[in-house]
Amino acid sequence: MALTLHLTAFFPSSFKQLSLSQGLKCPKASMVSTHCSPAVESENKPFRPAKEVGFQVTHSMPPDKIEVFKSIENWATDNILVHLHNVEKSWQPQDFLPAPESEGFYDQVKELRERSKELPDEYFVVLVGNMITEEALPTYQTALNTLDAVRDETGASLTPWAIWTRAWTAEENKHGDLLNKYLYLSGRVDMRQIEKTIQYLIGSAMDTKFENNPYNGFIYTSFQERATFISHGNTARLAKAHGDTKLAQICGTIAADEKRHEAAYSKIVEKLFQIDPDATMLALADMMRKKITMPAYLMYDGQDDILFHHYSAVAQRLGVYTAKDYADILEFLVGRWKVEKLTGLSAEGYRAQHFVCGLPSKIRRMEEKAQTRAKAKQASSAPFSWIFHKEIIV
Ligand SMILES: [Fe+2]
Ligand SMILES: [Fe+2]
Repeated sequence: MALTLHLTAFFPSSFKQLSLSQGLKCPKASMVSTHCSPAVESENKPFRPAKEVGFQVTHSMPPDKIEVFKSIENWATDNILVHLHNVEKSWQPQDFLPAPESEGFYDQVKELRERSKELPDEYFVVLVGNMITEEALPTYQTALNTLDAVRDETGASLTPWAIWTRAWTAEENKHGDLLNKYLYLSGRVDMRQIEKTIQYLIGSAMDTKFENNPYNGFIYTSFQERATFISHGNTARLAKAHGDTKLAQICGTIAADEKRHEAAYSKIVEKLFQIDPDATMLALADMMRKKITMPAYLMYDGQDDILFHHYSAVAQRLGVYTAKDYADILEFLVGRWKVEKLTGLSAEGYRAQHFVCGLPSKIRRMEEKAQTRAKAKQASSAPFSWIFHKEIIV
């Protein structure tokens, strides 16, 4: 993703409104609460996540729908597992990094550091945010294994759903590894602060709103894989513009993986639209009403209670991931799944179809208004601990 609900699925400028209306400021929010000041807690107090997800719906899929997923297992083997790469032919992080066994290791590291000097601090904020999102991978594998009918029941199950989830996880694992090692070697970022953010984030997890429902889960992952494809693609483009072609290659390679993952997840949803259009339509509308939240939405560095908001504001400003992208992704998927052409739906299904098809233009109009308001305001900045508390315009 990986998933992303961060890089989350971003919803940057609208996020400001969201965070205010939902009270996402310390100490409490309606759905997400912030557990403040962990640093001053007594040693004997039980551990609490830095941010906690409140009320969560569970098992919303009717049990008879389990059969829908059983009935397409052979199809999934033939059509979904083909999107996974053979390990022997796959790229590995080491293909893009200085070789520690080589005589020229120190020179290669020096070259990497020279190239990274050309990149601005604000670029590193976004790259670090992307890396942290990838590094929270245990959360995403856990989330997929909450889904009824498709979870990996044993941890080594041989259903196509379980095989996919494990191999997908193994591919995603390389994304965080590679970006982490690059950032470590660059010397441009405060690795300890970044590592703390990862530890906090995995401890807090994410608010998937999956409700254990695989219809919701696969809609979310389709959206999120495309979001990460866009985001890594844009960090590749910017690295190239700043002359770091090796970093551009790193981000571009990760983006290509995300595109392949998007193809697989969106194919599952396409199939669900074919065999169970009404339930899939209702799930899509439900997920869009709840909003696709980015995977790293609960990020925290021990200091900034609205770190995700600050990070996504920089991503929006640099054009790495924007509210326009959110609307574009939805529009793309609505077209990909031929949502407008669905027929034979229930009355509720038709209402859901009408809502979803009108949503991209509605989001764009809201975003244009938010942009106008933002331009009228004075620019503000925030310090990012990841880059030694340097101030960045948000
Ligand atoms: Fe991915
Ligand atoms: Fe990824």
